[in-house]
Amino acid sequence: MMKMERICIYPGSFDPPTVGHMDLIRRGAKLFDRVVVAVLHNVSKHCAFTAQERVEMLRKACCDLPNVEAVSFEGLTADLARQMHACAMLRGVRSIKDYESEMTLAQLNTMLAPEVETVLLLTRPEHGCISSSAVKELAHFGGDFSPLVPACLAERIKQRLVCGHD
Ligand code: PNS
Repeated sequence: MMKMERICIYPGSFDPPTVGHMDLIRRGAKLFDRVVVAVLHNVSKHCAFTAQERVEMLRKACCDLPNVEAVSFEGLTADLARQMHACAMLRGVRSIKDYESEMTLAQLNTMLAPEVETVLLLTRPEHGCISSSAVKELAHFGGDFSPLVPACLAERIKQRLVCGHD
């Protein structure tokens, strides 16, 4: 009998990707046969980077991970999970506050696609304070955000967030 590939999607805004995201992707890549990093293209939310730019950055940061790909999507993650034949959705939890919102998200997604499990991974303690918002705030006030983002993306992120152009 042919063994089914175990696919998970890892949805998020990734505006921009952080080392916390990367750690979760690497851990997901060990647990699943394929990880599809799904970048939300949300027209109503102002992002510093376009969905295409975020996808390109993730592809670059994941180039050493053969079972990871990045795509952009619009609409519901539950629909994307079905489209991709994913068995799971991956999300990271840094705190109780995250846990509460992730629980709500997981319950809604289970209602929409009961066959897709939500897998929550606890963020490593050293990444507990890292977020895309923290990167943007540090950049805005002239702080060093480089330890928070993948090294291969630091310059590109700096160009956009600090210099205001590429
Ligand atoms: O990185 P973020 O901003 O915390 O990611 C949030 C994301 C993209 C996972 C969430 O907003 C999402 O799933 N949006 C798509 C719409 C959807 O499926 N909502 C949940 C059911 S109402």
